[in-house]
Amino acid sequence: MALPDSFIQELISRNDIESVVSSYVRMKRRGRNLVGLCPFHGEKTPSFTLYPDTESFYCFGCGAGGDVITFIKRIENLDYIDAVRFLADRAGMKMPEDTRDDAVSRLRLRILEANREAARFFHSCLYSPTGKEGLEYYYKRGYTDHTIRHFGLGYAPDDFHILRDYLRKKGYRDEELTAAFLCKKSASGHLYDIFRHRVIIPIIDIRGNVIAFGGRVLDDSKPKYLNSGDTLAFKKTNNLFALNFAKSRAGDGLILCEGYMDVIALHQAGFTNAVAALGTSFTAEHARLIARYASTVTLVFDADAAGQKGTKRAIDLLRDTGVDIRVITIPDGKDPDEFIRLHGPERFKLLMERAANDVEYRLIELGRRYSLDTADGRVLYLKEAAGLLAGLSSPIERDVYAGKLAQELSVSKEALLSQVESRRRQQAKKQQERQLSQIVRQSDDVQRRINPEAQKHPRAVSAEEALLGMLILHPDYIEAASQVLPPEEFVTSFNRRLYERLLERHRNGLLIELAFLASDFSEEEMGSITRMVREARERVSSREEVVRCADVIRKEHQLLALEQPERLSEEDIRKLLEAMRDKKS
Ligand code: CTP
Ligand code: MN
Repeated sequence: MALPDSFIQELISRNDIESVVSSYVRMKRRGRNLVGLCPFHGEKTPSFTLYPDTESFYCFGCGAGGDVITFIKRIENLDYIDAVRFLADRAGMKMPEDTRDDAVSRLRLRILEANREAARFFHSCLYSPTGKEGLEYYYKRGYTDHTIRHFGLGYAPDDFHILRDYLRKKGYRDEELTAAFLCKKSASGHLYDIFRHRVIIPIIDIRGNVIAFGGRVLDDSKPKYLNSGDTLAFKKTNNLFALNFAKSRAGDGLILCEGYMDVIALHQAGFTNAVAALGTSFTAEHARLIARYASTVTLVFDADAAGQKGTKRAIDLLRDTGVDIRVITIPDGKDPDEFIRLHGPERFKLLMERAANDVEYRLIELGRRYSLDTADGRVLYLKEAAGLLAGLSSPIERDVYAGKLAQELSVSKEALLSQVESRRRQQAKKQQERQLSQIVRQSDDVQRRINPEAQKHPRAVSAEEALLGMLILHPDYIEAASQVLPPEEFVTSFNRRLYERLLERHRNGLLIELAFLASDFSEEEMGSITRMVREARERVSSREEVVRCADVIRKEHQLLALEQPERLSEEDIRKLLEAMRDKKS
């Protein structure tokens, strides 16, 4: 599906990459460019770079790169056309008409519409005689009508067909209802409702779309929750419950808890910056999502063993993103919902204020594993604790906690600190090695996928990439290149495809910019192309360089042809003979 060039051009000029990226990543100016922590992989030192002159981004750590459309594709997890639509909405532009015939994005829209209808339906049931049980359930939990309306809570009646019939009447086709995860087909082939006899919590994304549902039983039966599976409109690991409300308060930090009900109770009590992962355990994607909005996160998981395990896991994942982590342990084995119901918001606020930061929490946890009244136990504990302190990036923090610990266990602070420093050096070295080998492995993998022929023809590939990077950076050389090098002479087919694309745009008098390639090349391919452009910046570009690269490519192509005589065209043979004749004379 091709969008008119003029439209894309307006789209990118109205969505300046610097402001788009800055709404996701905190960027700092460095020379002509900007740098920040990469939102696509966990890192502590910024390797994510924005190049305002070419309107592109590139991450030295993970190789993600491209134009503003590729950025939105990746970060919002959208396909090309929806990413364009996203940016069009952002800039208040109307999409050209013919774009709606993309079947997938049309189905996605239908799913969102069906979800919205379903949410309205479930909510209206709550206030009708069929939903009496559901409404009573919410009241019993202490939810006010205001809260129920605010979250759009609902009730799914104890009926196999009520939602199905309602939505069919509204014109939804059966395939749309199954694609939305609202209905399922039975073995005998008829459609029935998935959510029945449950209170319903709609999941709403940051743009206000109803993307999924959670349904809770009204009693103690199992399973307690039933959640939408992933659909075209919903990916569990990319969403946090209530982020749509919490994001405007994220400047004060986010509160992360385990359950829907905890979040709702916290919001009702005034803590409107609470969010939760959805039915799954917390993932690295969730961590990045949090870090995108907030610089501090307070974990308030349940006090049971599962909650403590979840806390550890979340800490490990969040630590990679560089957000400040605080942890609240709810006293007497309660979850935050029960705590607030029993003790009120004021007490919870005190807990928040006193929230031990994560170092203290981990030191206490660690201490529980050793018998600190024996010398041996203390030595072992101090060793582990030194490793933990070594992981702190701030020297002041290291100093403060080492001092505290030394005092508590009556050892010398200097001895403890020198242990910490030596662990730091060890950890740094290991981390560096790990990162390096990971980067090498990753970029090899990506290269193999994108350009499988590259490894066999290293000389040709470096000339091809140098040429292509140069041409995108300085499109005025394309004419010269087209005169000396036809696409057939490229050795690797990925690079040939890119070259053909550039020539074609040039022939048609169209602009050459990364954003115009985003419709034809995948995110990974865009990363690779952006790398070529970035490398070209560091070299001299000139017409002579164009000719030099073209010569290398042509020679490599001829050598290859010699190895595979069946690939020689008559033209090739003629040229080879000529070349040999020239040598003799
Ligand atoms: N969860 C789930 N499926 C289950 C149990 C739990 O998807 N069978 C998910 C839900 O997202 C739930 C979260 O894990 O919100 C936390 O579980 P739990 O603490 O048991 O639920 P609460 O939200 O505390 O529910 P309640 O207070 O009603 O018991
Ligand atoms: Mn609970």
